[in-house]
Amino acid sequence: MILKSSKTKVAILRALYGSPDRLISSKDLIKGSGVSRQAIWKAVESLREEGFSIESIPHKGYYISGQLSYDLAPTWIALNMNDTGPVERYIYVLDSVDSTQTMAKDLARRLCKEGTVVISEEQTSGRGRLDRTWNSPAGNNLYMSVITYPRMEPSMLHLINLAAGLAVVSSIREVCHLDCTLKWPNDVLFEERKICGILSEASIESDRIHFVCVGMGLNINQHISEFPAELREKAGSIIASTGKPADRGILAANIVSDLHYWINQLEVHGPDPILTSYRQICSTLGHRIQITTGNRQYQGTAVDITSRGEIEVETEGQRLVFSAGDIIHSPHLG
Ligand code: BTN
Repeated sequence: MILKSSKTKVAILRALYGSPDRLISSKDLIKGSGVSRQAIWKAVESLREEGFSIESIPHKGYYISGQLSYDLAPTWIALNMNDTGPVERYIYVLDSVDSTQTMAKDLARRLCKEGTVVISEEQTSGRGRLDRTWNSPAGNNLYMSVITYPRMEPSMLHLINLAAGLAVVSSIREVCHLDCTLKWPNDVLFEERKICGILSEASIESDRIHFVCVGMGLNINQHISEFPAELREKAGSIIASTGKPADRGILAANIVSDLHYWINQLEVHGPDPILTSYRQICSTLGHRIQITTGNRQYQGTAVDITSRGEIEVETEGQRLVFSAGDIIHSPHLG
């Protein structure tokens, strides 16, 4: 099953949640959304399928009669986004898919709208960086890909990758009050356990970026004991760190909005603003690290992030710059 957000559904929810007693007449809904009575009825039906409890009273109108039963309802996510991105919000939520990233890339090739979001309750072939698999069981986490067509040169791609990390960290801080950090380039950590991984894949056309699909996998309401044994030492989750479950939809809405914010900053002001914020939350900087690229390993101290988003490492008197690699922070060096 695929659930989709729509402009009319967002308008109806805004009107319902905005009315003091959460009751609103069909006439006002028609006026507010600019669609027919029949279209309102259909949209309300579709909102019920998403998990909203909406009742109608003959001749009076519609009202919200209970709690939303599904925190990944696409129109809930659209409603909770702010105005940093496109006005129209295209959000697809699936029960199951091989990989949201594969679906997002297909949509991008067919020129879907800027900011389209693909979320799945589970992934049967979730993909991580360096051809690894991404554990993606149903029910508790967030597997999301966001499609964007940034107006930038390909050399800025790394910075989009950093922007995604920033968006996730600031959203987790804001929504869940959890002080996580970033391991370069964009592993989100809490007490050195990985809470979120990000995979950005792009299509480049000569000297410009055509599209970028930013794929994010967040462990949210999964307990450590529920991870496969091989991940239990290193993986973390929001519930394991805060002791509280989080609303995945509100978190998704915040992340997408923040990502749009940072991409816009990059387009308008270039790398400086993003680098300033990134340096503040990147726990790799100043750390003794080991970095692996291909089959070579280097040890040293991470000293800076370049204007292209690469990491600068001081190793035995020389400074090396890496644009990709797997990092281990020092207490974990074997
Ligand atoms: C990593 O290895 O750290 C990156 C993991 C990225 C996982 C996400 S989940 C949503 C999207 N779909 C995928 O198949 N992968 C990304």
